[in-house]
Amino acid sequence: MNQRPPFVESTFQQKDVIFETPLRPKLLSDFIGQEGVKERLLVVLEAAKGRGEALGHCLLSGPPGLGKTTLAHILAHEMGTNCVVTSGPVFERAGDLAGILTSLKKGDVLFIDEIHRLQKNIEEYLYPAMEDFTLDLVLDSGPNARTVKLNLEPFTLIAATTRSGLLSSPLRTRFSHALRLDYYAADVLSEVILRTSKLLQVSLYPDGALEIAKRSRGTPRVANHLLRWVRDYTQVRLKGVPLTSSVVQEALALLAVDEAGLDEMDKRILEILIMQFGGGPVGLTTLALACGEEPDTIEEVHEPYLILQGFLKRTPRGRVATERAHHHLTTSNKSSYTTFS
Ligand SMILES: Nc1ncnc2c1ncn2[C@@H]1O[C@H](COP(=O)(O)OP(=O)(O)OP(=O)(O)O)[C@@H](O)[C@H]1O
Ligand SMILES: [Mg+2]
Repeated sequence: MNQRPPFVESTFQQKDVIFETPLRPKLLSDFIGQEGVKERLLVVLEAAKGRGEALGHCLLSGPPGLGKTTLAHILAHEMGTNCVVTSGPVFERAGDLAGILTSLKKGDVLFIDEIHRLQKNIEEYLYPAMEDFTLDLVLDSGPNARTVKLNLEPFTLIAATTRSGLLSSPLRTRFSHALRLDYYAADVLSEVILRTSKLLQVSLYPDGALEIAKRSRGTPRVANHLLRWVRDYTQVRLKGVPLTSSVVQEALALLAVDEAGLDEMDKRILEILIMQFGGGPVGLTTLALACGEEPDTIEEVHEPYLILQGFLKRTPRGRVATERAHHHLTTSNKSSYTTFS
C-alpha cells in the first residue's frame, strides 16, 4: 500500500530539478519577501506543530515563478514530513488519486501542482478526502456497482495554481488557507538575486543586483535566469569580471530585455497591438494568432506583467494598449518587430 505510484515526480519536472531545486530555500526564514503570506504561515505552522496535527490544507496561487512550489516544499520541511509531488493533469482515473492518497502516511504533504487542470470527476473524490480523510470508491458498474469507504491518514493537501479563478468553489472552499503570492518589488528581488549569486559563487555588486531586479518582471525565476545569463556573458566576453550595474546593462542589452523588464515577446505583443490593430480593442485569440503565440501563454505569462506595469488594459471588448505603451515603444530605441520598422 505504501509504494508510491510511478507517475509521482514525473518527467515534466526534470528541468525544474536541475535548474531550480538547488536554488530553492529550504526554510521559511530563507524565503525572501511575501511577508504577509509568511507571517500567516508561521502562525499556522506553529499552531499545527503545537497540537501535533497535520497542517490545514493550503492553496497557493499566483503567476508563474513566484515561489509556489518552493513554499510547498518549505511547508513540508518545516512540518518535518514527506512531500509527495504530483500535478493535476497526470490524474487520468479516480484510481490514480486513490493510489496516491492511500499511500500517504500521517501528516504527509501531498503537493498537487496545476490543480486547476484536475478533471472535475476526479476532483469530486478529493472533497471527502480533504474534509473527513475518507475516500468513497465506486467498484464495478451497472447493477453490481457498490461503494467502498476507505479511511485515509490525516494529510495536508498543498495545491498550487496560476489560475485560481478556474477552481470550482466547492474545491476552493475546502482549503483552510488560501495564500496569494504577488510580484516582488525590485529591492526585495535584489535580495533574492544576491542570495542566488552566493549559491552560484558569482561575485555581484548590490547595484548590479538591483539592475537585474528591475528587469526581472517582479519574478524570482526570471531574476535567477537573468543572473545566470549575465554570469555566462561576463565569463565569455569579459573574462569573468565582477557584476556591476554597467556590466549587467551590457549583458542584458544582448538579451533584448529592456529597462522596463519587457522581453521580445512583450514588445512584440504591444507593437502588434498598436501597429496592426490601432491600439485595440482586440480579442485575445486574434492577438495571439497575430503574435504566433498560444492564447494561454499570452494570458498567463505576458499579460499579467504588461497590465501590472500599465502597458495593457483588459476591457470587455478586448485588449487595449495604454498611453504608456505608445510612449514606451516610441522612446525605446530597439524594436524587436521588424515588419513595420
Ligand atoms: N521568495 C523567494 N526567495 C528565494 N528564491 C525564490 C523565492 N521565490 C522563488 N524563488 C526561486 O524562484 C524559482 C521559481 O520558484 P518556484 O518554482 O517555486 O515558482 P512557482 O510559483 O512554483 O512557479 P510555477 O507556477 O511556474 O510552477 C526557484 O528556483 C526558487 O528558488
Ligand atoms: Mg511550481
